[in-house]
Amino acid sequence: MGKDVIVACDFAGAKQTFDFLDSFGTARPFVKIGMELYYAEGPDIVRKIKERGHKIFLDLKLHDIPNTVKKAMAVLSRLDVDMTNLHAGGGVEMMKYAVEGLTRPDGTRPILIAVTMLTSISQEVMTKELGVSGQLPETVIRYAKNARAAGLDGVVCSPLEAGVVHESCGADFVTVTPGVRFADGDAGDQKRVMTPGQARIIGSDYIVVGRPITAAPDPEAAYLRCVREFVG
Ligand code: C5P
Repeated sequence: MGKDVIVACDFAGAKQTFDFLDSFGTARPFVKIGMELYYAEGPDIVRKIKERGHKIFLDLKLHDIPNTVKKAMAVLSRLDVDMTNLHAGGGVEMMKYAVEGLTRPDGTRPILIAVTMLTSISQEVMTKELGVSGQLPETVIRYAKNARAAGLDGVVCSPLEAGVVHESCGADFVTVTPGVRFADGDAGDQKRVMTPGQARIIGSDYIVVGRPITAAPDPEAAYLRCVREFVG
C-alpha cells in the first residue's frame, strides 16, 4: 500500500467542496467524504469528485447485521470508491460479509478499513457505560486483530497507535491516521496530534488531514507541504 495524504472534505455541501477543490492547480488529492457531505448530496457527489480524477475514501462507518452491510458495501463498490470503512464493533462475521459485498466480479475491491474504538470513547465510558472490560488500548488491538482475521486491510487509528497496530497485526496491515497538525499549526479540538513527519516515522500508511489544509490561506500549498513531510 502506498503512503498518501488524504484530505478530509468536511464541508456541508457540494458548492463549498467544489470551491475548495477548484482552488487546486494540478494536484488531485485523495479526498475523504464523510457522513455530512454524503448525506447532504448523495452518491452523486462521489461520482462528480471521481470524475475530476480524485481517489475517494468514503467514510460512512457501516455497522449493521452482516447481510445488510454486505448489500450496502456492494452499492459502495459500484460507486468505485478507493477506500471505505465500517465499525469493528459489528463483529467478525459482519466484517467478512462486508469484504464479500465489496468485492467486484473481477476480484478487485476498494481498501476496507475498520474503526476500532472511537476516540470520543474514554476508558471510563467503555468500562462503565458500555460494560466492556479491560483496558482501552487492548480493546483497540483486539478489534484490529478481528478486522485482520475477517480479511480487512487495516484500521483507522491515532498516529500514536500506528506502531503497536503494525506490531500486532503485521507491517502490511494498513493504518489510516487522523489527528495530524503542522509543527507550527493550531491543534484545534484534536487532543493528541502528530506532525506529518512524525506520522511517517511511526509508520502511518495514510494520514487524514482536514483543517490544516481546508482552512489554510493556500490549501494547495498546505497539501503539498503535507505530502513533502509525510511521503518525502
Ligand atoms: O480537521 P482535522 O484534521 O482535525 O480533521 C480530521 C478528520 O479525521 C475529520 O474528518 C475527523 O472526523 C476525522 N477523524 C478524527 N479522529 C478520529 C477519527 C476520524 O479526527 N478518531
